Amino acid sequence: MTYLPTPEQDELRAMVRELAQERIAPRAAAIDAAQEFPWDLKELLAQQDLLGICFEEQYGGTNLDGVSQAIVAEEIARADATTSLIPIVQKLGALPIMVAGSDEQKQRYFPRLASGEWLIAFALTEAAAGSDVASNRMRARRDGDDYILNGSKRFITHGSIANVLTAFALTDAEAGGRKGMSAFIVETDSPGFSAPRVEHKMGIRGSPTAELNFDDVRVPAANRLGEEGDGFKIAMATLDVSRLGVAAQAIGIAQGAIDAAVAYAAERRQFGQRVVDFEAIQFMLADMSSQTEAARQLVYAAAARVDAGVTDIPYWTSSAKLIAGDTAMRVTTDAVQVLGGYGYINEFPVERMMRDAKITQLYEGTQQIQRLVVARQLLARSGVPARG
Ligand code: CAA
Repeated sequence: MTYLPTPEQDELRAMVRELAQERIAPRAAAIDAAQEFPWDLKELLAQQDLLGICFEEQYGGTNLDGVSQAIVAEEIARADATTSLIPIVQKLGALPIMVAGSDEQKQRYFPRLASGEWLIAFALTEAAAGSDVASNRMRARRDGDDYILNGSKRFITHGSIANVLTAFALTDAEAGGRKGMSAFIVETDSPGFSAPRVEHKMGIRGSPTAELNFDDVRVPAANRLGEEGDGFKIAMATLDVSRLGVAAQAIGIAQGAIDAAVAYAAERRQFGQRVVDFEAIQFMLADMSSQTEAARQLVYAAAARVDAGVTDIPYWTSSAKLIAGDTAMRVTTDAVQVLGGYGYINEFPVERMMRDAKITQLYEGTQQIQRLVVARQLLARSGVPARG
């Protein structure tokens, strides 16, 4: 067992950090203010092969190991959380196809996703079904060689800009969400599909979070993932892995805030000395840095276990997302405190980072859902029955 990064991982980090510092960080404030998706940075990431990191070489990807994928998300998020969502959601949307797709489906979609020519989104959540996935209502009715999808989705990251979705709908409403839901690949130029509304959000404001409508959208049966009724398990298996992307994003946001807090405290003078010379500030910075490092190591440990295919993946990935998200929120809040009044205005990046950090406690399962997953895994591991 080694706890040290490989030389290749160090090189990758240095490459992405330089790119992020030079090309992404200078755009972050404007992306946040304009609330516009950074198409230029999507192109930049595509050119640098950073959108294909989770895809196998045969589909044009670079097939990086899990720790390296976390490093990429982390280094981009350190500069701008919105931009880090581009590779993170490319993987999230593709995971149902990785989990349950046929070779033909992978061949059809992965090359365009790996190159960045197409964007994908993961369409699971509905207005009345967030944490409680099983209460989803969208329907898919079989009609010859097609399915006809009707219903709506809400809070779908990149939903309004994606070329294709992995979408979940009930094929057997009586069986309910756990047994009667199926997963589909839906191209967004299909007649009847629309994205009528984009949310106004507290953070990650350049990343469109959309409401989606499906009005008799015809999807070929060849686009169903797995068998009818597999949808719930495909969604769970996706989230089991994708939550690591959010965890890595959270660490990056936290590290960006630490960098900004240290730089400010080293410059700012009060009471005749640098703010960084006050022990009270040094102790805050020490807590921020050591907690972020602990979260980072847990994310890498979880990523290595996902690659190894351990049996308790949800224990590791939900623990990582829980610790990383809570750390990002605490660290960015403290960074605002270190900057005082300057932390509260948009002349400095920490107020944006604090707003961006909040979403890591909410999406891909709230922190309460992560605790539920970890507790269930802990009880199973300890031989305690699920219900007494
Ligand atoms: N892998 C495989 N199977 C699983 C599983 C997993 N991780 N978790 C549960 N299952 C199986 C169970 O074994 C059970 O199977 P059987 O019926 O055969 O026994 C079945 O699925 C039902 O399981 P539960 O009874 O445990 O299901 P539940 O209704 O209690 O829900 C939950 C479990 C963990 C709370 C789940 O609903 C959940 O993860 N909720 C959070 C949803 C979420 O994260 N949404 C995020 C949306 S995406 C997003 O935010 C992305 C974005 O925009 C960036």
